[in-house]
Amino acid sequence: MELKGRRVLVTGGAGFLGSFVVERLRERGVTDIVVPRSSEYDLVDGAAVRRLLADHRPELVIHLAAQVGGIGANRENPGRFFYENAMMGIQLIHEAWRAGVTKLVAAGTICAYPKFTPVPFKEDDLWNGYPEETNAPYGIAKKILGVQSAAYREQYGFNSCVVYPVNLYGPRDNFDLQSSHVIPAMLRKFHEAKLAGAPEVVLWGDGSPTREFFYVEDCAEGLVATLERYESSEPLNLGSGEEISIRELAELVQRLTGYRGEVRWDSSQPNGQPRRRLDVSRAKAQVGFEAQVKLTQGLERTYRWMTESR
Ligand SMILES: NC(=O)c1ccc[n+]([C@@H]2O[C@H](COP(=O)([O-])OP(=O)(O)OC[C@H]3O[C@@H](n4cnc5c(N)ncnc54)[C@H](OP(=O)(O)O)[C@@H]3O)[C@@H](O)[C@H]2O)c1
Repeated sequence: MELKGRRVLVTGGAGFLGSFVVERLRERGVTDIVVPRSSEYDLVDGAAVRRLLADHRPELVIHLAAQVGGIGANRENPGRFFYENAMMGIQLIHEAWRAGVTKLVAAGTICAYPKFTPVPFKEDDLWNGYPEETNAPYGIAKKILGVQSAAYREQYGFNSCVVYPVNLYGPRDNFDLQSSHVIPAMLRKFHEAKLAGAPEVVLWGDGSPTREFFYVEDCAEGLVATLERYESSEPLNLGSGEEISIRELAELVQRLTGYRGEVRWDSSQPNGQPRRRLDVSRAKAQVGFEAQVKLTQGLERTYRWMTESR
């Protein structure tokens, strides 16, 4: 699909991932981009969703608006994360179909996968078990959008899809220690410990879980490529395909920041899911998408951004 000349609505377009998606769309020659803010259109409210679509009449929609956060934020807000993410997604897909939107792509999350999914996670395993408990409300709220996408395609011929990005990181991420994900939290803790000459840095869990990290600009490219080229409600993984333990990640970040003190693992805090790595072959085969930025390179860019912007 040629995107140039289309009006594209990007919910959450002012957020971390959304801001890079908007840049990618501009690079494709899209000039008519609508970025609604939550203060003007609270997408949890169905009337606001209808008003947004009536005010702007988009042809294409990328739905990124969400309540997101790391393990701590998920543990503190299970009800809010479930309700707001489900309500935003369900109402937006429904109203976009009613408003005659040509295509919609929504962001799911790796947190939708069952806790003990065989590694690498294949899309066909998405429904084979309950997600890891701390992020299940968030993950399930996103996963039901895939059911809606398939149901609306079958009954109404509405063209939508839900992609499942793995853990993101990069410039413009959230560095607030109360709600941030693991990479910004580590970068900040090591950097501040170095500046303060602190003898130790305390990290959550025991360092044993593995994760896959996906550079935010790669994810933005994957989403735009999905909008252009993926015509199915079958789930689609988006990731780098690289797996690293949290302990190894801490070593990389420690080296990058130049912190010389000790690391203490606080194993009274949860580890989260034991292992995470996506099978990214479907995105390569069906969308022609492959991640470009290696973890070390992405971490350097993120650290530079953090130190320059603070
Ligand atoms: N970050 C990750 O590691 C990750 C991994 C996998 C999937 N994802 C998915 O990627 C998407 C973007 O995540 P992100 O990390 O970029 O999040 P983010 O920076 O927190 O951005 C989310 C945006 O959603 C908007 N929003 C929240 N509540 C809203 C409401 N009630 N009405 C309207 N807009 C609302 C906010 O807009 P305002 O600024 O106007 O309030 C915010 O800018 C989400 O769908 C998330 O589930 C993220």
